[in-house]
This record gives sequence, C-alpha cells and structure tokens, in this order.
Amino acid sequence: MSETSHDGVAREVSRATVAMLMGSVDTGKTTLALNAARLALGAGRTVAIVDADVGNSTIGPPACVGLKVFRAVEDLEEIGTPDRLHFVGTITPARLVLQQVVATAAMVDLAREMADLVILDTTAVVSGVAGETLKYHKAELCRPDKVIALQRGGEMEPVVGMLRRFLGLEVTVTPADPNVMPLSPDARAQKRTDAFARALAPPLDRWKVRPTVFAPTLPMGLNLGRLDHVLVGVQDEGGGCLGLGILTNEEDGLRVMTNTGEGMKGLRLGSMKLDPVTLESSVISLREVMFGI
Ligand SMILES: Nc1ncnc2c1ncn2[C@@H]1O[C@H](COP(=O)(O)OP(=O)(O)O)[C@@H](O)[C@H]1O
Ligand SMILES: [Mg+2]
Repeated sequence: MSETSHDGVAREVSRATVAMLMGSVDTGKTTLALNAARLALGAGRTVAIVDADVGNSTIGPPACVGLKVFRAVEDLEEIGTPDRLHFVGTITPARLVLQQVVATAAMVDLAREMADLVILDTTAVVSGVAGETLKYHKAELCRPDKVIALQRGGEMEPVVGMLRRFLGLEVTVTPADPNVMPLSPDARAQKRTDAFARALAPPLDRWKVRPTVFAPTLPMGLNLGRLDHVLVGVQDEGGGCLGLGILTNEEDGLRVMTNTGEGMKGLRLGSMKLDPVTLESSVISLREVMFGI
C-alpha cells in the first residue's frame, strides 16, 4: 500500500500516551486505531484499545465499552475478545451521555495502568449538543495528549474548536479517506444483529432472577412484564460487566438469558429491548418503563 496521509497520523498516534480518535461513521477510526497499534507494538510498546463505539463495536458486544490489551503484533488477530467490558446499555449514546462518558473514562483509567499507549476509539456521534457534550466530557476525563479528528466535510469543526479552546488539547484534523464507501443502513443494522448474535450465542442459560438484583432498583409493585426483552448487563462483584443478557418474563417470574451467568452478582438495566429470536433492537426509556413517565 502507498503512503497515505493516514500513515503519518498513525505514527503520531503510535507515539502518544492516550490518543482519542473521533469521526463520523466509516471515517476510518478503527482502521487507524489498528494501524497505530501495529506501529506502537512494532516499537516495543504495549497498547490498549478502548472501543467506546457502542453502536458499531469492534472489541466486545454492542452497548458496551470494551478494552483489550495487545502485547505483540500477532495479538491484533484476536481483536474481538475483550479483556474488560463496561456496560452502557444503548447503541445510541446520545441518549445516555452519563453512562457513556463514565464507561469510557473508567476503561481509559484502567487501560493506562495496563499499557504504554491507550487508543480510544469513540462513537460516531460527533456533532450537535449530544455529540459535543459527549466529546467534551470524555476528553475532560480521559485527558488525551493527542486527539485525531477524521473529517468528511466540515462536521468536526465545532467539536475540534471546543476541545482546543476549553481544554487546550492538541487536535490533528485529517480528511477521512474519500474511497471509503459508507455501509448502507440495512448493512449496518445486519452487522449489529450479527454482533448481538455473537454476544448471545448458545448455549444460553435462563437464570431465574430476583427483583432485588437490578440497578437501578425496581420500584415497588412494578409489573415485571414491562421488563420483558430488556437488554441487561450481567455484572460481577467488582463493577465489571461479564456480558449481555435479555430479560424474559415467564410464568414463574423473571429470567435472564445469557451465556455469561457464572459469577453474576447483579443486572444493570439497559435502555433498549432486544428480541430474543430476531435480535432486532428498539429504544426504550427506563423512566417510562418503570414509572410510566
Ligand atoms: N484509508 C482507507 N482506505 C480504504 N478503505 C478504508 C480506509 N480506512 C478504512 N477503510 C475501510 O472503510 C470501512 C470503515 O472503516 P472503519 O475503520 O471501520 O471506520 P470507523 O471505525 O470510523 O467506522 C472499513 O471497511 C475499512 O476497511
Ligand atoms: Mg469503528
């Protein structure tokens, strides 16, 4: 392959301590992350990738922030299996800014302890109030020493200006490769369904769950039928996420379908439903599910 402008950007990223990659869908964030990781690993550095792109995950399932540490170039072939997961509970983070920012910051903090270079691959929400709020607070907490903005038109300018003005961050703006053909919405939805299918692959157990194991806590007298098909994060005792589950309301009470039930301490409620058969997703509001408002 010939030298492209992104090769220079990948070198910049490979020399950073915490690099944050921003860009809309299919601007080449993940490709850049992997190229930079390869360079850094070649130079003898250990690399952690924090994949915060919950709608289009590369490390771990959708609706979660995934963390993976790489110690050798060959490790990049096993990209999908995460070392740590943090549940966000949505694939549309504009609606769950707090959860998204906390998950990302927590994973980056952990990653700093585990590697010389942390590469943060962020969500495609880059503009509007939600995009700017997400990027601002992520940058504030993750304290990157290098930010890369992959830009197609002028859509990155507001967020870039904000990070420079308010946080004094060093941002490199570079055009997204014009040859990249964005996926069609159908193909994107299919990719996500496939990713959920991998996260919820058989053999699935159906664990009976008590109404006291949820975060947030269920209100007294809640009709448990309202939680049917809600996506949950299966949590361990240390605040980590073991994997995903789907709630089902059965005659004998609530159950969770999951393949990561060993060591389960509690369940975090997501803000989406997932059909257990088709794995099609729909957005819900927890407040509405719980309180009808
Ligand atoms: N510089 C590039 N030249 C050609 N194709 C690319 C380039 N960067 C990425 N791609 C392709 O474009 C698609 C989207 O890239 P990806 O890195 O997954 O984007 P993002 O993570 O921003 O959604 C992928 O199929 C990838 O192989
Ligand atoms: Mg990506």
